[in-house]
Amino acid sequence: MSTAQRIDGKAKAAQLSEEITADTAVLLSEHGIKPGLAVVIVGEDPASQVYVRNKKRTAEACGFHSVQHSLAADTSQEAVLQLIGELNEDDGIHGILVQLPLPEHLDEQAVTQAVTPQKDVDGFHFINIGKLTSGNTADAFVPCTPAGCMLMIEDYLGTDLSGLNAVVIGRSNIVGKPMASLLLKSNATVTVTHSRTRDLPAVVRQADIVVAAVGRANMVTGDWIKPGAIVIDVGINRVETTVDGETTSRLTGDVDYASASDVAAAITPVPGGVGPMTIVMLMANTLRAAKLSAGLAA
Ligand code: GUN
Repeated sequence: MSTAQRIDGKAKAAQLSEEITADTAVLLSEHGIKPGLAVVIVGEDPASQVYVRNKKRTAEACGFHSVQHSLAADTSQEAVLQLIGELNEDDGIHGILVQLPLPEHLDEQAVTQAVTPQKDVDGFHFINIGKLTSGNTADAFVPCTPAGCMLMIEDYLGTDLSGLNAVVIGRSNIVGKPMASLLLKSNATVTVTHSRTRDLPAVVRQADIVVAAVGRANMVTGDWIKPGAIVIDVGINRVETTVDGETTSRLTGDVDYASASDVAAAITPVPGGVGPMTIVMLMANTLRAAKLSAGLAA
């Protein structure tokens, strides 16, 4: 029997989205500023297309100026950098996001570092990474997925995680590493695990807070979870299933929800957990960028 509280990321994101929409209306009426978000997508990766569509739809719902640049898969590095340069100079654009992964021939680092730090709403620029890792988050842009995870953790445990063990599974630059920085800043004792970690289940069993971001469907099972832990599932894995003899696909996380929810105190579902929070944090970062660009308190 499932005993864990289901952490409703979708509902929380909807509530935050309302607040951002209201704030955006005030920014426009009082200061004549409409937050502008530019999303750049290169190529036809189907998952990326879905994410980008959701970002655009949410930006419009919040009352933002939203532009999408869809570039062909064979677009040259120079052309991508040229576009980013133009967006950096565009006063109507406050946030720039280049959807990852990029096609093989493009240099991901050169592209993400070309976005001016003040418009880097993904938090991927070395300036923003440096601010986050040194604990200077006041004027940093924090990557959206870890920022959203942190809000859900705070809802459940408060802002001071002193004495609690947090285990992050996955060491990516997008999720694992910034997640560890945020948890550390909130006084958690943080372990970052990865594919070379010895006896991963034993390490995870020590965790009061588990953040799973590996990209392997249902890898984390209930027997890995310490009773009473809070489990944040960042995974979005598409798996094939058979329904009434028909093969379809569905989304599942990195955590086996059924078994983990018997042991955990609280757990995020997939879909409806981290995903909607990531998108709303992008909106929060863009609104913040717009305010900061006008010298307003963010
Ligand atoms: N691809 C997967 N997650 C992300 C993200 O947070 N930002 C960008 N730009 N691309 C992604």
